Amino acid sequence: MSQHKKVRKAVFPVAGLGTRFLPATKSVPKEMLTVVDKPVIQYVVEEALEAGIEHLVFVTGRNKHVIEDYFDIQFELEQTLRSRSKTAELTILAQQLPKAGTVSFTRQQEPLGLGHAVWCAREIVGNEPFALLLPDMIMRAEDSCMKGMVELYDQTGGNIIAVEECAPDQAHKYGIVGVGEAIGKGFKITGMVEKPAKGTAPSNFFINGRYILQPEIFGILSTQERGAGNEIQLTDAMLKLLSRQEFAGYHFRGETFDCGAKDGFILANVAFSLSREDIRPLVEAQIRAMVSGK
Ligand code: G1P
Repeated sequence: MSQHKKVRKAVFPVAGLGTRFLPATKSVPKEMLTVVDKPVIQYVVEEALEAGIEHLVFVTGRNKHVIEDYFDIQFELEQTLRSRSKTAELTILAQQLPKAGTVSFTRQQEPLGLGHAVWCAREIVGNEPFALLLPDMIMRAEDSCMKGMVELYDQTGGNIIAVEECAPDQAHKYGIVGVGEAIGKGFKITGMVEKPAKGTAPSNFFINGRYILQPEIFGILSTQERGAGNEIQLTDAMLKLLSRQEFAGYHFRGETFDCGAKDGFILANVAFSLSREDIRPLVEAQIRAMVSGK
């Protein structure tokens, strides 16, 4: 048993406008775009559940009600499937449905930045550590990223940020951490900076969108100070918390697809299609032919 307070709740900030996917995201939230046959958000929720998370907290915004509907019963659909004895489809729906009372929704009323979105979840999270999963990023690994983070947290307590290495010329797109001594499957974080100017990043370890944070972050976020891009940045608040609490970097070694960008989204579809036994035989030969131009 870990001596540290269990991470029970996970926050998913899903209020983003998805402008990079217009016109699709005019009426469909980017988190509902599908990778093979599941919406992006489903992959991220499954990662959290695999890590032992018990309560899902969605920070939504205008035009995001279909996310709420997705995690609810679709009565007419299920009745129709039942009347047609479509048991396989009913099983898929039953597996995807969270238990009653284990999902909460709150709204970010204005798009003021990631730090602000996280702060909007403060009342629902309360005074306990929580996981934060950015829904743009979906990951593929033997053990999920968040599961590995929870294991590290059980040893260290404090705050955990998952990181991966990027090419130095890509560092300005991300939050970047400073690297200290090794701890377990990670290292002590010595500093962090959001979207560093080219050539100024403290390392090439970027924050990949998975966090375990202590509730003291909410007090810091409540000052609503603006940072890079004139947004309320989570990284800036974490840097302030770093002067009071420990942060460990969890070095995730797996594949990450940034489904907030067109290339990442397309690659996720190809990768997850090829890793599915039922789909791979249908598409592999044709993908090869398209690539080789035959
Ligand atoms: C956010 C975080 C950044 C992190 C990134 C991962 O940035 O602020 O620290 O590296 O997600 O995707 P955004 O992508 O919202 O600009």
